Amino acid sequence: MRHFSLRFLRSRMLPIVSMLCLVALTSATLPFKITDCSTSPNKIVRIENVHLSQDPVKIPGNETVTADVTILQSIAGTGHYNVSLRIQRHVFNGWVEAPCIHDFGSCSYDLCTVLSGKHYQNTTHHCPIEIAETSPDFECACPFPVGTYHLNPTTAHIDNLASYLKWLAQGDYKVEAKILDTTTHAEVGCFIVQATTASDCTGIQCIFGKRHEK
Ligand SMILES: *[C@@H]1O[C@H](CO)[C@@H](O)[C@H](O)[C@H]1NC(C)=O
Ligand SMILES: *[C@@H]1O[C@H](CO)[C@@H](O)[C@H](O)[C@H]1NC(C)=O
Ligand SMILES: *[C@@H]1O[C@H](CO)[C@@H](O)[C@H](O)[C@H]1NC(C)=O
Repeated sequence: MRHFSLRFLRSRMLPIVSMLCLVALTSATLPFKITDCSTSPNKIVRIENVHLSQDPVKIPGNETVTADVTILQSIAGTGHYNVSLRIQRHVFNGWVEAPCIHDFGSCSYDLCTVLSGKHYQNTTHHCPIEIAETSPDFECACPFPVGTYHLNPTTAHIDNLASYLKWLAQGDYKVEAKILDTTTHAEVGCFIVQATTASDCTGIQCIFGKRHEK
């Protein structure tokens, strides 16, 4: 009887255990990195000296960020530039692209609609209060005049993900953000961000989330 149940257990557990091992093996960490992939002579933005206090990025966690952003050509209002995002997550045998679902994921957006500042009407440059406090000259919303903006060390509070998304909180990601001129369709900016996220969840909970929670 004991023998039987052990065999049963083994046959059931083995695939799960090997999957866990694979996941563990493949969540080798990608150090945080931003690469400029633009080939345009009319590039509109440069992002440099980005530094994170915590790498891998902890979810939930407090991440302190510094960066220099240089606007090379003024960015006016909506309709001029689109941002197209490609979000890829590492799986054991390669990368899978996240789909675009309800404007979340690998989607295309109007740049100045995203950077409208509408959520931050009460700060000078429509920045989140954390940025407004550390970097009063930093601009967060269209229009952007030509210039260099320095983001002083600013702490972002990263919330816990909803339980059904918890498995996303642990993984290797690559995000490509391409800025397109909507008139000429030319690429005028391109960045690839690679990062690893880490959470405090363990084992099966990281993969499937907590099933008993809503
Ligand atoms: C983030 O910082 C706040 C205040 O400093 C602290 O209360 C909170 O526990 C921190 N969160 C995490 C996940 O470390
Ligand atoms: C701006 O509004 C937010 C929420 O609406 C509030 O938390 C914040 O303290 C306000 N900031 C200023 C500078 O009034
Ligand atoms: C820009 O993005 C908008 C909204 O996502 C889309 O409707 C439009 O086709 C895009 N334009 C170009 C030139 O990519």
